[in-house]
Amino acid sequence: MDKIRIIGGNPLSGTIRISGAKNAMLPLMAASLLSDKTLILKNAPLLDDVMQMGSLLEQLGVSLTVDASGATRAVHLKAEKITTTTASYDIVRKMRASILVLGPLVARCGYAKVSLPGGCAIGVRPVDLHVKGLMAMGTEIELEDGYINARAPSGLKGADYTFPLVSVTGTENLLMAACLAKGTTILRNVAREPEITDLAHCLNSMGARISGIETDTLVIEGVTLLHEATYTVLPDRIETGTYAIAAAITGGEIQLIDTDFDLLPGFTSALELIGVKLARIANGILVTAPAGRPQATDIITAPFPGFATDLQAQIMALLTIAKGQSCITETIWENRFMHVPELMRMNADIQVEGSRALVTGVKSLKGAQVMATDLRASVSLVLAGLAAKGETVISRVYHLDRGYENLEAKLSACGAQIERVKVDEAA
Ligand code: UD1
Repeated sequence: MDKIRIIGGNPLSGTIRISGAKNAMLPLMAASLLSDKTLILKNAPLLDDVMQMGSLLEQLGVSLTVDASGATRAVHLKAEKITTTTASYDIVRKMRASILVLGPLVARCGYAKVSLPGGCAIGVRPVDLHVKGLMAMGTEIELEDGYINARAPSGLKGADYTFPLVSVTGTENLLMAACLAKGTTILRNVAREPEITDLAHCLNSMGARISGIETDTLVIEGVTLLHEATYTVLPDRIETGTYAIAAAITGGEIQLIDTDFDLLPGFTSALELIGVKLARIANGILVTAPAGRPQATDIITAPFPGFATDLQAQIMALLTIAKGQSCITETIWENRFMHVPELMRMNADIQVEGSRALVTGVKSLKGAQVMATDLRASVSLVLAGLAAKGETVISRVYHLDRGYENLEAKLSACGAQIERVKVDEAA
């Protein structure tokens, strides 16, 4: 397993191009199952999770090609014939977002057998809302041997479904399914993350009839067929936020390009309170670190437009060196503080009480050997390592490849001393 070695302390300066959003790409790829025509996704991030979704779709009969001829890569997907409606445990267990094939398969084929994703490092992560929503649309569902068996042989029916709590992939699954249902579906209390807006726009460009986009109620008039489309994936707001913190935590200045300031309202207002300067520039954001130490502030994670849980670990890394005490409350996932003991190995002062972490700022972090536990926790250790005095070695970095394209190259180009160390398994 590879490690990442960082010598911290260099203020970063330069330009980073932000990739297409992983969490938009995954549902957009699943949407290709709804039609027998080609869906071309431009600005595609080529990440391990995207490859994983590609393998799952190929198993279901989708043909997939990557076109690297343009400025950014495009993925071409064509589900001319679906050859199986079963998504096996072997593939679903590796990536929870595999559940996104459930709605499209039932909508297009009338059947689906999808493994339950099972537990995951950041919490229990149930999928009951995906199941209940599909049942409201006329699907018969049995849970058997760890699989969701879904049947709607005469097709899905429009329904009026209210999510009891906001779910991102739950909204995406039902939104895709509703596009091919008979009649009108109303989905209430839906998630409003920009990735959902992206999916809705892409589906409309394939011929779907979705209104209420960006609000908490989506209205979908079912159609019988969807057609080919070419769609550009939106910028990755979590990658944007991560590199903004890289500038802030190292006392540097970075231009983030091919991204959009407005994708991160909860995050940008928190950074401004911390003293980070953010300016809109053509096609992106200029991030300038505070002149002295950052200011402490309180953070509460929340669904969009609130502070994204996927940036909680990264902002915690920044707040470890702030002046004063910050309280971070995690409201989305019940076990998302696994980076805390690792940050404490680097001299951070953090106390966890249930869903709250009290972070007392220290003057500086110290390099240490630490271990990555999940995708965003891993990158928070990279950020801490960039600011820390001395050497930090992070093991289990395969998590990073699930969600960050060319991380070391992007940071090195801004002056970071970071390298991937191949570890000989036999050593
Ligand atoms: C998505 C993101 C993930 C992010 C999360 C919250 C993708 C591929 N992943 O995950 O990076 O951290 O949104 O912004 O887009 N819940 C239920 N029952 C369900 C579904 C969810 O109880 O059927 C609960 C979850 O346990 C959690 C909360 O709802 O407490 C939010 O989960 P959800 O929005 O569904 O997260 P994901 O879509 O899995």
